Amino acid sequence: MKTPYYSYNLNLLERTLQDLIFEAKNYKIHYAIKANNDIQINKIIAKFGLGADCVSGNEILHALKCGFSNNKIVFAGIGKSDEEIEIALNNNIACFNVESLQELKVINYVAKRLNKKTSVALRINPNINVDTHQYIKTGINENKFGISFNQILKAIEIIDSCHFISLTGLHFHIGSQITNLRNFEYLAKKVNFILNYIEEKGIKIKHINLGGGLGIDYDSPYENSIPNFKKYFNVFKKHLTTKPYHTVHFELGRSIVGQCGDLITTVLYIKKGISKKFAIVDAGMTDLIRPALYQAKHLVVKCKTEFNEIEKYDIVGPICESSDKFISNYSIEKLKRGDQLKIKSVGAYGQVMVSEYNLRTKPGVFYHGEKLHFETRNSTKKLILN
Ligand code: LLP
Repeated sequence: MKTPYYSYNLNLLERTLQDLIFEAKNYKIHYAIKANNDIQINKIIAKFGLGADCVSGNEILHALKCGFSNNKIVFAGIGKSDEEIEIALNNNIACFNVESLQELKVINYVAKRLNKKTSVALRINPNINVDTHQYIKTGINENKFGISFNQILKAIEIIDSCHFISLTGLHFHIGSQITNLRNFEYLAKKVNFILNYIEEKGIKIKHINLGGGLGIDYDSPYENSIPNFKKYFNVFKKHLTTKPYHTVHFELGRSIVGQCGDLITTVLYIKKGISKKFAIVDAGMTDLIRPALYQAKHLVVKCKTEFNEIEKYDIVGPICESSDKFISNYSIEKLKRGDQLKIKSVGAYGQVMVSEYNLRTKPGVFYHGEKLHFETRNSTKKLILN
């Protein structure tokens, strides 16, 4: 197959989902479509019964097309357009995660026009600074997301005066690629405090949405191909105080799909610089922007080992930008023109962030995995890919 292309291991995806469902028995999980919107992948996730966390009108329509039920779709984002709000209302989604006071009024206005009542959850910015790249922290005061603690009562007042929206939940999301679980412990404790503060005022909250953010192991994708969901949920079991009428939601993206994708690329040239060697490959930042944008490090391995000696390379793409580099000073078996490489752990925020900069052709897609079994409502269906 022509490189570069994304190669998805659907078997690993299924095993990850099985594990997640087992560990998340008491919770509702919405998959964050933004992490990977490949149709095959999304259909599998929908068949496992997860809901969908969408951030655009198009994601809502896509989720429905992939089989997510409308009553398991939540709609987040700070800049929902009137048209997108209409799409959500016309499809009777479960809930809007609302990020500003003005947005409450706009949703109510559009809902009134369409004569449709809807549920809202308030996204609250808990002011928690997490250990992750600064571009993917979302829960500190200066971030644009959510409303601050001191706006909560005002928001509730607005909801009370709006007849087409009702408050059902609270929503939080503190960032992405979080591997230090201590951050989630702080979140749980903050949520306890905020929930208590609101309920003491006689307002009953039905669901608490703790967002996503669980990180994956980019350094050891073979050893840790499935994230430790047990440990993650245990943090909330231990630190989150809920009442029997509360349901607890999560919106996981990366941890579900991150490890099931590789980007396959071919070495085009080996070039000697003054002090280093470059392996120039046919994939670039247009195919995987994470290293250029977040200085992310993805493991790179040769598709076929030849047991050659180890050399050091900067593995770079063909785009006219110095940031178009996958990894620097990287020790790998000696490379030559024509060698194929696997860039690991690109199932999340890989293909979805592809661009056509330099008028590049978009990468292809390949699926592998053994016979996949899906339970459907009527029968047990087998889907055989490849
Ligand atoms: N919920 C909300 C409100 C979010 O903003 C996100 C991700 C998620 C859930 C899912 O988070 P996850 O479980 O995937 O961490 N492009 C960046 C990541 C951006 C994350 C955006 N929001 C990257 O490549 O690292």
